[in-house]
Amino acid sequence: MNTARPVPDAAGVRAGAATLRALVEPRLAGVLPAEAAHFLARLERYGPDVIELLRPLYGHRPDFEAWVEAILATAADAFLARPAELKALDARREADPTWYQHHTMIGAVCYVDRFAGTLEGIRQRIPYFRELGLTYLHLMPLFRTPDGPNDGGYAVSSYREVNPALGTMDDLRRLAADLRASGISLALDFVFNHTANDHAWARKARAGDPRYQAHYYMFPDRTTPDAYEATLREIFPEEDPGSFTFVEDVGQWVWTTFHRYQWDLNYSNPEVFQRMLGELLFLANIGAEVLRLDAVAFIWKRLGTNCENLPEAHRIIQAFNALVRIAAPALVFKSEAIVHPDEVVRYFGTGEWAGRECELSYNPLLMVELWEALATRHTHLLTYSMQRRFAIPPNCAWVNYVRSHDDIGWGFADEDAEALHIHAFHHRQYLNRFYTGQEPGSFAAGHGFQWNPRTLDMRISGTTASLAGLEKALAAGDEQAVEYAIGRILLMFGIVLSMGGIPLLYLGDEVGTLNDYSYRDDPQRARDSRWMHRPRADEAQLARRNQPGTVEHRIFNALRRMIALRKQQPAFGAAAHTGVIETGNPHSFVFVKSSADSRVLVAANFTEREQHVATGGFGDILSLNPSTDLLSERAVDLSQDLTLPPYGLLWIAVPPQASGAAA
Ligand code: GLC
Repeated sequence: MNTARPVPDAAGVRAGAATLRALVEPRLAGVLPAEAAHFLARLERYGPDVIELLRPLYGHRPDFEAWVEAILATAADAFLARPAELKALDARREADPTWYQHHTMIGAVCYVDRFAGTLEGIRQRIPYFRELGLTYLHLMPLFRTPDGPNDGGYAVSSYREVNPALGTMDDLRRLAADLRASGISLALDFVFNHTANDHAWARKARAGDPRYQAHYYMFPDRTTPDAYEATLREIFPEEDPGSFTFVEDVGQWVWTTFHRYQWDLNYSNPEVFQRMLGELLFLANIGAEVLRLDAVAFIWKRLGTNCENLPEAHRIIQAFNALVRIAAPALVFKSEAIVHPDEVVRYFGTGEWAGRECELSYNPLLMVELWEALATRHTHLLTYSMQRRFAIPPNCAWVNYVRSHDDIGWGFADEDAEALHIHAFHHRQYLNRFYTGQEPGSFAAGHGFQWNPRTLDMRISGTTASLAGLEKALAAGDEQAVEYAIGRILLMFGIVLSMGGIPLLYLGDEVGTLNDYSYRDDPQRARDSRWMHRPRADEAQLARRNQPGTVEHRIFNALRRMIALRKQQPAFGAAAHTGVIETGNPHSFVFVKSSADSRVLVAANFTEREQHVATGGFGDILSLNPSTDLLSERAVDLSQDLTLPPYGLLWIAVPPQASGAAA
């Protein structure tokens, strides 16, 4: 590495300097000229961004320039190691850079071991994924973890080794290729806020090596931890209270936001950024097309703050993204930020970086407000928040979901609730009581998670079906209640499939899987009720999807049909406009999706009673009469009030001659 050559500032590079090219060109000597030219063009386009983003974080260091060279060399080396078929994918994605916004995108997520045993088992399920119509599959963390508790894989001992019980890195590479050949993009986790306490770096830190201790936040006594903890939130107050853990080997306190065995990485150390870039690009070269950036909110710390969502965290992700655009442009990022809705949306990037941070983000707000509306039978909060908070940068997409492997925390904005005269604290208490079955008339069979006696807060565990009422209805043998439960499940699926973005199905939900209480017998899991909604797939239950008259058949086939219909409607893509309508009926949720070539009005009833919705406020949609409900294939007369049956959902398509009308 030539450390004498100065790295120009970003403005200098933008002005046309070819210095960046000079930095990496020698490394590309063995590459085909056309490929090298592509790489260099990307380097010249995004390299200045990398410098601009990293200078405020690390520019004060005397070796900054040499360090930037090393960063770019890491990107160049990853490009050199990138398999030819992934470079071909890069070219296809560069020609269609917003591929993930397409209305044909259908996502799902599962645990490898719980859904299919091993990576080979997942491969054998590809026909099932195709049957459902999936184009995106997120496999929960599948890397080597410590023996014993590992937070469902979120304590990573090595980013370059697959958990041996699941298979090998080669199996994973082959699986990625087989999925791709079946039109399914693989999404993997990048658990980059922390490593497991037995990662090689952590082991060296424990052995007393100061270089590796500087990979983490380690303190000789409680003074600094106490100062930080004065303003920190506890994530797992029941299991691992506080945010620091005493490491006996070295007599020091280490930062552990999550569990005691998950050590937070110290990104103020440039070596950590560089090494994690290497791990990130390694995963890109395995064939991951989406990286789920785990726990994005926590990656930067500053005393006196809650150490969440700090501006530096955004810069780091933006810099990673710019480096991915250089070395592996087929890859996109999905943000996992379970924080205030104002903060969630910032992970798409803001200002000049809008659309240049995470292309995708979970939409926890839509998820919690769907459940909130089901409990209250009122859609005020859902309508109000979605009118104000659904819009995102034009090249981005929400990942809309009903359930995930995690708990449900009532993360709506207090100010949205207050604007509607809802007392946020009391409302959360009510929702917790409702979903743990403690409110009179509650249909839900959920359980509390991480009760915090200081804040009186907790979150909710349970599967979609159990929370939606199916567990209680089946136990009671109440056919009407079963109808309602299925109605609720399909209503929520119908909204996440149509609202715009990638719908993400938590596998098991497509056949109405109920809570699994066996985790209580496993001492390693008994204190984490999230295992209730992480059951093993039941082959007999999956097979019942083909048996008419069963609950599984009803849910699976209705869902599959909605998926097939979605794939025919460009208006359901992420780039289409979403106009949420205040109808005056407080139990219905109505929105219009419009793209250049199609338009669909979606209307949903969140109650067990028939609802009538006046169409007067639907604007020029009225002139699109007569229209057809895609789901029932019936004609709908928009000049009359809309009639919505209990938990009814309509997808009303605009007649072809009217397509293209302004929203
Ligand atoms: C994310 C994961 C969650 C995990 C945490 C720590 O929030 O979804 O399951 O406990 O990160 O890695």
